[in-house]
Amino acid sequence: MTPRGKDFLNIADTSKEEIEFLLDQVPVYKEILSRPIKKVPALRGKTIVTLFYEPSTRTRMSFELAGKRLNADVSNIAVSTSAVAKGENLKDTIRTIESMEVDAVVIRHSQAGAPHMAAKYTKMSVINAGDGAHEHPTQALLDLYTILEKKKTIKGLKIGIVGDIAHSRVAKSDILGLKKLGADVTCIAPPTLMPPFMEKFGVSVEHNLNKVISDLDVLYILRLQLERQSKGLFPSISEYINLYGIDKKRLGLCKKDVLIMHPGPMNIGLEVSEEAATSLSSAITEQVANGVAVRMALLNHLLGGN
Ligand code: NCD
Repeated sequence: MTPRGKDFLNIADTSKEEIEFLLDQVPVYKEILSRPIKKVPALRGKTIVTLFYEPSTRTRMSFELAGKRLNADVSNIAVSTSAVAKGENLKDTIRTIESMEVDAVVIRHSQAGAPHMAAKYTKMSVINAGDGAHEHPTQALLDLYTILEKKKTIKGLKIGIVGDIAHSRVAKSDILGLKKLGADVTCIAPPTLMPPFMEKFGVSVEHNLNKVISDLDVLYILRLQLERQSKGLFPSISEYINLYGIDKKRLGLCKKDVLIMHPGPMNIGLEVSEEAATSLSSAITEQVANGVAVRMALLNHLLGGN
């Protein structure tokens, strides 16, 4: 077994061996989730708190269910109705949580690096559930697992990540993870949504989706993060749909066995059409389902006994 650290903060600092170790564990947890009684006592007596400073449906719920299915006690702090709304800073919030004998805190924050800072102040395990436009490491694990489950290998696969790469923490973590496992990654976006120097991550950069779409084994669609964008990054929504939106017609240009993925939440009718999102090529609901098992594997790795 690979040595476990206290925290899980990013894919950049997670070795290929540790990623593979975690992915290897996932079927054990998927089997537990397929039972009529989806619960094992692995983390009985442990306490996990989710602390989300940004909205979330699937990630927060997925961590909560993962903890509960391992028999941990899980509490969710609704930041908007907590002492944070009275001006308490992250350091004090972390110390307050720690003083109640909590074992792990799962943090989502709009500031890149917030979970890393929190990890320095506490002996609790800190898990990054998304920090600004930096990383979303558990999303990468569940995406890697879903690709492996469907395609059997990641090495040598051609993966296209299309859309708002500039604002996407999912893209950053996925690129790092996919490269560690040997995929051939192409980032596809208008120049204004493509960060500079992407080539240093070992990926190809492309602005013309139609040029590469028929080569891809996986088409990973990103949400247009309109809430993080300043105005004017592309001429109009209809122009974006026309050049980068994935609809039935564009799906027809893909390989027959292409895998369509999206981290959610989706802007249906914008970056992806209803038909493409629910097509037989889509693994979007599997991504969500796998998220629980992947997070169970991670929580047990960090908090469980040997
Ligand atoms: C993503 C996130 O919050 O980073 N969603 C998720 O966790 N499944 C992607 C997004 O918001 O577009």
